[in-house]
Amino acid sequence: MKDTFYITTAIAYSNDDPHIGHAYEFFIADVMARYFRARGAETYFLTGMDEHGSKVARKAKDQGIAPQAYVDARAESFKELDRMLGISYDQFIRTSDKAAHWPGAQALWKKMEEAGDIYKKLYKGLYCVGCEKFLTEKDLANGECPLHPGRAPETVEEENYFFRLSKYGDALREKIVSGELDVRPLSAKNEMLALIDEGLQDVSFSRKEEAVLWGVPVPDDPSQLMYVWCDALANYVTAMGYGREDDALFKTFWPADAHVIGKDIARFHVLFWPAMLLSAGVPLPRSVIVHGFITADGKKMSKSLGNGVDPKDLIREFGTEAVRYLFGREFSVFDDSDFSRERFIEAYNANLANGIGNLLSRSTKMADAYFGGSIPAADPAKVPVRTSRPTISGSETLSEYTIQYMIKSDIEPRYQKHIEAFEINRAADCVWELIGIIDAYIADYEPFKLVKADKEQAAAVLASVFEGIHALVPLLAPFMPDTAEKIASLVRKNEDGSFAVSLPEAPLFARIEAPKA
Ligand code: MSP
Repeated sequence: MKDTFYITTAIAYSNDDPHIGHAYEFFIADVMARYFRARGAETYFLTGMDEHGSKVARKAKDQGIAPQAYVDARAESFKELDRMLGISYDQFIRTSDKAAHWPGAQALWKKMEEAGDIYKKLYKGLYCVGCEKFLTEKDLANGECPLHPGRAPETVEEENYFFRLSKYGDALREKIVSGELDVRPLSAKNEMLALIDEGLQDVSFSRKEEAVLWGVPVPDDPSQLMYVWCDALANYVTAMGYGREDDALFKTFWPADAHVIGKDIARFHVLFWPAMLLSAGVPLPRSVIVHGFITADGKKMSKSLGNGVDPKDLIREFGTEAVRYLFGREFSVFDDSDFSRERFIEAYNANLANGIGNLLSRSTKMADAYFGGSIPAADPAKVPVRTSRPTISGSETLSEYTIQYMIKSDIEPRYQKHIEAFEINRAADCVWELIGIIDAYIADYEPFKLVKADKEQAAAVLASVFEGIHALVPLLAPFMPDTAEKIASLVRKNEDGSFAVSLPEAPLFARIEAPKA
């Protein structure tokens, strides 16, 4: 395994408050960062805000405040969400940061210019401020941007700088097909290859200063400001010191291992960004992970539908760990996922209050009541062999090790394969499979009955149960770090293989009684 791991999220626009889609993206990157950190990789996790553009300038003006004050407040709001959700980022880059971001963004521009890929052209086009991009006739539905109905695109006629994206189609295709730039899932990869096959057009990479008012000046021509996407994409290298004197982070961590983004912005990350890097002579990121969208009650979340879900409210109501469970297990990274309050409460009760919470409360109670919390290391000879469930090959004579055997031979390898493929929900399923295995083991061996007949055998059975619970800790840690820590503090394994078990002060997850509709 490579000993560094650099992961990024998209940097969110600062014209709105964070919603559940943002929170989910931060969570995905956080799980991966925590996973690789725990495996000993030197890990760097970057997130931040995309603060420029006419949209922000206009909103700030409407509120009668300076754009900087406006974006400062938004950045605080996103950071608050990060804190509430336990997002373990290393740096929060902001594109309005003149010291951290601007020098690198301008250095990158200069490299592209030196490569002959930036040129000036008179351009007339339809600009959608909502999307921050030029639209073509075929993008329109009834003369409007389909994503921003009711807001007619603006006709723009300006002399702008253009980026020669058209030059890079073949090179991009080759990198994507060869997997050197690993685009996941396959559907996103194919979609991007299809766009390349249609032919890539050059992109307007700057706007007139008076039109935008708020952005990074083009080097040597401050009458033009960089196009927000050119500015924003650069964050992945500027934050690391690219174009600055202190570029130690860039040297250590670039190329990024993964850019985690949503499917609406795949083309910027799979086409524009790698082409910019090819032009500037900077190595390409290793992968672009394109996650699905979160909908609410089957519909796209939107202000007008009033079905937006405020992730902070959700965390206040259910707690960080429960929301991380929801994101980790109930949402699917590579598909769209639907949030429904009812389903969330059902899953919470079944898998947190009952599943993991109940397992901890039952097992620690048994350990306390029968053994005063001290469970000696398991002695294979002390465990009766039960055959009510299919035995696993190799475990017939060591039945009390069945749990460990399943963990080592099946659960852990599958978990690792899934998580390293960013299939976080499938990795989380492995955790709940293990919980199911431990529950079934208790049901099979009935330590609560066994203890009356043969205390030593009951102790051996419980030792096996705690082996299983102990194995949950590292598997849970990337998703639900506090729960993992709590379990680790309740079930401590000693060097000789014995366990010191304490009773939880309160249930790990209190049951939620769903309000009657
Ligand atoms: N500012 C750009 C990104 C620049 S990255 C160099 C942007 N911002 S955004 O705020 O609109 O979106 C930020 C991220 O959230 C994107 O990856 C986007 O796909 C993701 N999501 C926005 N809505 C979403 C859902 N409803 N569900 C899941 N993710 C969604 O785009």
